[in-house]
Amino acid sequence: MGLQWTVILLLKMTLTGLSYGIVGGDSTSSKRHAVKSIQSDDGDIVDCIDIYKQPAFDHPALKNHIVQVCLLSMLLIQMSPSYDPTMDTTATRTKRSTDRKEDSSVTVTSQLWKRNGSCPRGTIPIRRIRKDLLKSKLSNSTENYGRKKPRLFHHIAQLNDNATSNLQQANHSLAILLTEGYSYSGGKGDIKVWNPFVETDDEYSTSQVALQNGPYYDYESVESGWAVNPRVYGDRKTRLFVYWTTDGSKTTGCFDLTCPGFVQTSHEIALGAAIYPISSSTGLPYQITIFIFKDPNTGNWWLQYGEKINIGYWPSDLFGTLKNNAETVQWGGEVYSSRVGKHPHTATAMGSGHFPDYISGNSGCVKRLRVRENSQELKFPEWVYAYSDEYDCYDVFYLGDYIEDPEFYFGGPGQSYKCP
Ligand SMILES: *[C@@H]1O[C@H](CO)[C@@H](O)[C@H](O)[C@H]1NC(C)=O
Ligand SMILES: *[C@@H]1O[C@H](CO)[C@@H](O)[C@H](O)[C@H]1NC(C)=O
Ligand SMILES: *[C@@H]1O[C@H](CO)[C@@H](O)[C@H](O)[C@H]1NC(C)=O
Ligand SMILES: *[C@@H]1O[C@H](CO)[C@@H](O)[C@H](O)[C@H]1NC(C)=O
Repeated sequence: MGLQWTVILLLKMTLTGLSYGIVGGDSTSSKRHAVKSIQSDDGDIVDCIDIYKQPAFDHPALKNHIVQVCLLSMLLIQMSPSYDPTMDTTATRTKRSTDRKEDSSVTVTSQLWKRNGSCPRGTIPIRRIRKDLLKSKLSNSTENYGRKKPRLFHHIAQLNDNATSNLQQANHSLAILLTEGYSYSGGKGDIKVWNPFVETDDEYSTSQVALQNGPYYDYESVESGWAVNPRVYGDRKTRLFVYWTTDGSKTTGCFDLTCPGFVQTSHEIALGAAIYPISSSTGLPYQITIFIFKDPNTGNWWLQYGEKINIGYWPSDLFGTLKNNAETVQWGGEVYSSRVGKHPHTATAMGSGHFPDYISGNSGCVKRLRVRENSQELKFPEWVYAYSDEYDCYDVFYLGDYIEDPEFYFGGPGQSYKCP
């Protein structure tokens, strides 16, 4: 017993010595020593932080990794997936060669801060959180900063129920394509990037790929995509995000690295950084390719960005049943506002702010939808279901016929003549 305590004390001292700076759960990056700081033209500061000093290891479920930080630091972080997800089985190979062709015609996005520098290997870029946002009334406490508000419905919402009645208390409006019925170990899609209008600072609009388990009031989720979220980011730029929760966002989870959990390995991509360029109705289409997949050997959920950059992973230790597989994969948009399902409705938009439009393409859109079902093979899901909480405000359109690779269109303006 006595020995154990000594060891713990020693570890604590070592950690402090390493300028871990997190005792008490404060995970602002400003307390960590940046190897380098990069000032971006969009106002962001990106700090290059030693990869072993990132917030992830402050999480209680990952505490055993901390012991390894001190003793065997090389074993701590899984630096890359043990399985290369781009090596797909034959069934998808023909498909993939056409995918590649599409790739070259699509314009790829980047992050603005990268114009002003890069982070050295061995560090990860962390977008610095503005102190005023942590303390602001909107987040109310540092503890809740970066977490979504839970979706608490009054009764069990079945997808086929009367959608409006499901929604009234939810404050969340979804317009998604979903698949379920298998156990999923991966979900992927090309998400078109827009900058929708967000009416007030405590509302947000996102477009993402999500893998989830469990009932709506207590679900586990890993998600990634783009977000306009003034409460978390302090402005209305379109930013790359990751999100996770293990209890329907009641007490766990957050965006990006704003709480311990997600382990970042890439020195190239900063979570929460502004994406550019953005699609416009007269300009080129821009998209991000998001692929969330389970490493079959470690059980960690990896996030791959743009077909080649493995940004990092959610350690399987974070989760309950999501340790194994996901029950559903979802693609599409979400609007958070206390004025969804109400009149007047929020004017916060989803996607581009236009209703689904597969002819012009000027709406929220996900292409090349893929899942991994019980095998490592990447394929189009067995079946899909398009669903909206409020069809008059944010609609969905699934284009499955007469097309080689189905596409999903979603979104809308929020408040309009159809949605007063
Ligand atoms: C960032 O880089 C751009 C282009 O190289 C330059 O014009 C700009 O002044 C730089 N901004 C900062 C804050 O250093
Ligand atoms: C902030 O939290 C405190 C208690 O935690 C609560 O009394 C107060 O009403 C909250 N304020 C807002 C603006 O939500
Ligand atoms: C659905 O809601 C509409 C009004 O919004 C109502 O007329 C209809 O009866 C409801 N249907 C069911 C099955 O509850
Ligand atoms: C919806 O938002 C309002 C206002 O912020 C809040 O009072 C209410 O509790 C929220 N409802 C749920 C279910 O979170």
